[in-house]
Amino acid sequence: MTTTSLPAAGTPGSAEATSSVLSVEQLRAFSDAHFTARQYLPEAMPEDHLDAILHAAQRAPTDATAQMYSFIQLSDQALKQQVADLTVNPHFATAPVSFVICMDVHRLNLLLEHHGFERGEWPGVAVHFGIGDAVLAGQSMLLAAELLGYMGCWIGGVLTNLEALVDLLGLPEGVLPFAGLTIGRAAETPAQRPRIARSLVVHQNRYREPEKSELDGMQTDMAAITARGDWAQTLGRYFAKGGGMEVREVGLQKVLARQGLTPGAAGTSQTDTSAEAGA
Ligand SMILES: Cc1cc2nc3c(=O)[nH]c(=O)nc-3n(C[C@H](O)[C@H](O)[C@H](O)COP(=O)(O)O)c2cc1C
Repeated sequence: MTTTSLPAAGTPGSAEATSSVLSVEQLRAFSDAHFTARQYLPEAMPEDHLDAILHAAQRAPTDATAQMYSFIQLSDQALKQQVADLTVNPHFATAPVSFVICMDVHRLNLLLEHHGFERGEWPGVAVHFGIGDAVLAGQSMLLAAELLGYMGCWIGGVLTNLEALVDLLGLPEGVLPFAGLTIGRAAETPAQRPRIARSLVVHQNRYREPEKSELDGMQTDMAAITARGDWAQTLGRYFAKGGGMEVREVGLQKVLARQGLTPGAAGTSQTDTSAEAGA
């Protein structure tokens, strides 16, 4: 997306702060301009752009004010290549800007211990809040980048060779990669990738099971995304019995335990301040 002139946002705290920044048409156009880009022009990102993008990421909402995430920026080219190899995603190395987006309850635990609190046992909650925080901040980063005319790619391939990645990046207990995020000026313009019908993802008041005809409709709606028009076949290779996710599951469970993020593991404590902090 090229630069557009947006109306100035209102002053925080004033009534005008809620006035819209985009028209409905502009919002639709911006949303439709999104695509995942894996090929980038070899242009360094200006510092002020990166600064503004990171500012946007840190303005993301965060559970209980805790900011349970960390971004590992890969600025060393040899390291970028190693991460590209480990994750089998070459754009880690070729993107002008590459991050590994992590959940992080380590910093929170250090803060609490520094202030004399004893660790509690909440590994499931740590993963729930930490991944949520990391995703919100990372997607805010990507949206901000897209508003400045960049495109990017989330990289779940961090789960391939996850333990080696944790070692390479020196991630302490309580820190777990969620995904990579690469950003740059796109050097490709892929066709827009479809989505399933909204009626399948928005449920009115109660969960609604899809009809068989709707399951067929999903296959039709998503046909364009695969070479042979068979989306279920593609998903099956990832998620069905014997698919790639079963392999990833083994590696993830091992790293969850190592990072103190399974029941009985140390290191995921917090004294309950949720009422005060608005959790
Ligand atoms: C959490 C997450 C992980 C992803 N992992 C990868 C990945 O490892 N490699 C890759 O090339 N694309 C990856 N993608 C990009 C998706 O393939 C892409 O978003 C999807 O095909 C929809 O395309 P679109 O973003 O162009 O609409 C990932 C996206 C998300 C949200």
